[in-house]
Amino acid sequence: MKGIWVVVALTLEVALAAIPEETLDWWQTSVFYQVYPRSFKDSDGDGIGDLNGIADKLGHLKDAGIGAVWLSPIYKSPMVDFGYDIANFTDVDPIFGTLEDFNRLQNRAKELGIKLVLDFVPNHSSNESDWFVKSLQRIDPYTEYYVWVDPKYDAEGNRIPPNNWLSEFGGSAWEWRAERQQYYLHAFAVQQADLNYNSPYVVEEMKNVLRFWLDRGVDGFRIDAVPYLFEDPELRDEPLSGKPDALPSESQYLTHIYTQNLPKTYDMIQQWRQLVDEKKAEDGQTRVLMLETYAPIDKVMAYYGSEERPGGHFPFNFLLISDLNKDSNAYAFNETVHKWIDNMPEGRWANWVIGNHDQHRVASRYGPELVDGLNMLAQLLPGSGITYNGEEIGMVDAHISFSDTVDPAGRNAGPERYELFSRDPERTPFQWDDTFNSGFSTSNRTWLPVNSNYHQLNLAAQKEAPVSHYKVYQRLIELRKQPTVQRGSLQTYPASEKVFAFSRVLSGKIPIVVVINLGSETEHVNLDALADIPENLVVDVASIYSSRVAGASVSRSDITLDPKEALVLTSASQI
Ligand code: GLC
Ligand code: MG
Repeated sequence: MKGIWVVVALTLEVALAAIPEETLDWWQTSVFYQVYPRSFKDSDGDGIGDLNGIADKLGHLKDAGIGAVWLSPIYKSPMVDFGYDIANFTDVDPIFGTLEDFNRLQNRAKELGIKLVLDFVPNHSSNESDWFVKSLQRIDPYTEYYVWVDPKYDAEGNRIPPNNWLSEFGGSAWEWRAERQQYYLHAFAVQQADLNYNSPYVVEEMKNVLRFWLDRGVDGFRIDAVPYLFEDPELRDEPLSGKPDALPSESQYLTHIYTQNLPKTYDMIQQWRQLVDEKKAEDGQTRVLMLETYAPIDKVMAYYGSEERPGGHFPFNFLLISDLNKDSNAYAFNETVHKWIDNMPEGRWANWVIGNHDQHRVASRYGPELVDGLNMLAQLLPGSGITYNGEEIGMVDAHISFSDTVDPAGRNAGPERYELFSRDPERTPFQWDDTFNSGFSTSNRTWLPVNSNYHQLNLAAQKEAPVSHYKVYQRLIELRKQPTVQRGSLQTYPASEKVFAFSRVLSGKIPIVVVINLGSETEHVNLDALADIPENLVVDVASIYSSRVAGASVSRSDITLDPKEALVLTSASQI
């Protein structure tokens, strides 16, 4: 644990030391913006977004102040899991374009000074890949490319899977193939066969995938489904979780001690880090590794690796998604922020994720009134900021019926349970303007429907309006350039049960205070507990329903906040 804990009445307070003056790297100061390519912009009128569409809209990202883009998978795929089932890891799917289109996108990004990060999906390939087809036929070296296991037989002599492991998308994680008289493992859909990392050929093959894209000039990778890379070689049954809400066919029914976060997984990540660091050694440019690791906090933190053998630049911090919701109070927010900061290994860099293509939209999880407050947290707490496309305008989940559901996680769950699992609601097309299909596509049918609220909620309208989520977002990104935000200390403070506040302070620089009323009542608080904050503060930017405008005075020792009001305060009228 870092810093000094001071207990004041019922509140926890901690001051974290400022980061020493040094040049921070691009991945530390940038905001990463996740583009979900199918839903961003369709350039060819087939109802599905594509690379040329993204290239056309890069200007928007520049305007917003984005420094890096992470593209969800663009590779050749049967699209069972919409690109996370890859048939060829080194080619672009025709739905998205060609390798030439990718080059053009890269060049455009370079012109605008935007880094480009790809999604690396190492755990599995499509069962339509050449690798799988050859593995099925036992053609070397592909024979052992996947996790093939002989069947078991029950008392009646019926063939059964080797153990009780479950797929994340429901049902057994094992699929029988008569051709090999064996089962193969799939942690996700049946069509996503788990690669076997005990095969040295697989290890080398996947390193070659990384090399291919590094040689084409990408700036790093978001690594998908990291915890699942290795499994228990003894194939032991997993224990029951005892979770009352989970059905026996659902992954949550088991505790994943034999299929997730095995020690070898950490070693594999460290090897990939070494590989990107070798590329960095050629030209001094960091290629970043961001890891998707939903796991208990100690297991997540271990993915940072050690000083001698670093792992990812950071594992994603999903705590603002997993640990909090619209009912959480200021103490819970305080605890959650500290859960990351206090558990993070010394000298490593934090990050804050509030949404992605697998999680319901911030506006839907927290309520639309807290969108600006959540963006303030994600962008002004110490660390890298992450934005899922649409969060900058406060997009909300769409309602999609079971019959219109396309996500395999939703479809497999069936009409009774699909709403618990479907990720379609947060994947609807980006809302550019109030023209046909929100300006996303000219097609009469888009792959997921455009949310019908697009006439009111769209980027063009928010650029026009004097006050909007987008304008708040732009200002927050601008503030990230301040040394106080980049390197200042952090002090958090639950000012009341409903009001969460934090300050960022750097000697000789203007301090920044964020204060958020999470509740539905007016709150009166003072922030006197925050160290080194002057009595007279001014509003730098306010949540959109706030009656306060930039430049308005606020006194530290007596603040009245409207329900859900969120403010960024400084000590001068302009910084
Ligand atoms: C990750 C992705 C998710 C995908 C899964 C399997 O969790 O974010 O969208 O379904 O991995 O690749
Ligand atoms: Mg298209």
